[in-house]
Amino acid sequence: MSVYETILVEIHDKVGLVRLNRPKALNALNSTLLGELVAALQILDADTSVGAIVVTGSERAFAAGADIKEMVDASAVEMLLRDFISQIDGIRSIKKPVIAAVSGWCLGGGNELAMSCDMIVASDTARFGQPEINLGVIPGAGGTQRLARTVGKAVAMEMVLNNRTLSALEAQQFGLVNRVVPVDCYLEEALSLAAEIANRAPLAIRFGKDAINQAFETFLADGLADERRSFYFLFSTDDQQEGMQAFIEKRDPEWKGV
Ligand code: CAA
Repeated sequence: MSVYETILVEIHDKVGLVRLNRPKALNALNSTLLGELVAALQILDADTSVGAIVVTGSERAFAAGADIKEMVDASAVEMLLRDFISQIDGIRSIKKPVIAAVSGWCLGGGNELAMSCDMIVASDTARFGQPEINLGVIPGAGGTQRLARTVGKAVAMEMVLNNRTLSALEAQQFGLVNRVVPVDCYLEEALSLAAEIANRAPLAIRFGKDAINQAFETFLADGLADERRSFYFLFSTDDQQEGMQAFIEKRDPEWKGV
């Protein structure tokens, strides 16, 4: 089904899989790739047969950052007008859970892309970093904001100011990564986690994702009020009735997504 130049899209039962596919450039994120990625995610988000999405790269590199060759000669005004980074923001608008399956290099914009996803499953060979300081710039797609909120100020400072890279186990220890598994099964692990989630009540998944993301974007009182409204709203769905009846009747629920 892939009609793209820089990504491959597959469907595995209820899970959409997007593979970044610029192997010669270690999946460096050029504007074509980011545009195609967001377009593919939006199509999968709108596909009612898909319940969760996995984004992956190759064993060698999830993505080695924004494409330096595409940026090297750009002026500030050209960068501003081109604004390719705002495409990464497009990932925030995806309503279904998105899991990054990361192996090898996960650097700069690659790490920012992984952090824009909802969860990260890493291979034990993954390395996470924000090396922009080596290029005379700073991260521009969340590598100071999301990173500091995730790993804390101390580690974020070392990563952004001194190019500290994290091993997969360190990334897990600092809360950046959900799971670390051997390199030969990281994609299967991510697909199986996505499949488990895809088989749960779709509306509750959607509201749960949205509520957790709000925890990073709003005041606690607003987040709590919104969470409560969402909780009450879910009592208008068939799946709430089904989930609670199934519990009482000691059977598995059958979700309808309404
Ligand atoms: N942009 C463009 N091309 C890249 C790239 C990038 N970010 N990263 C790697 N490549 C290319 C290399 O130029 C090389 O291409 P050629 O064969 O045509 O020379 C190819 O991918 C393989 O790379 P290496 O030969 O360098 O492979 P390596 O195994 O020796 O090193 C690496 C791997 C450590 C990841 C190294 O490639 C590297 O340091 N890459 C750059 C990482 C980086 O600085 N990322 C931040 C980019 S800026 C950013 O992301 C800004 C932002 O916040 C949005």
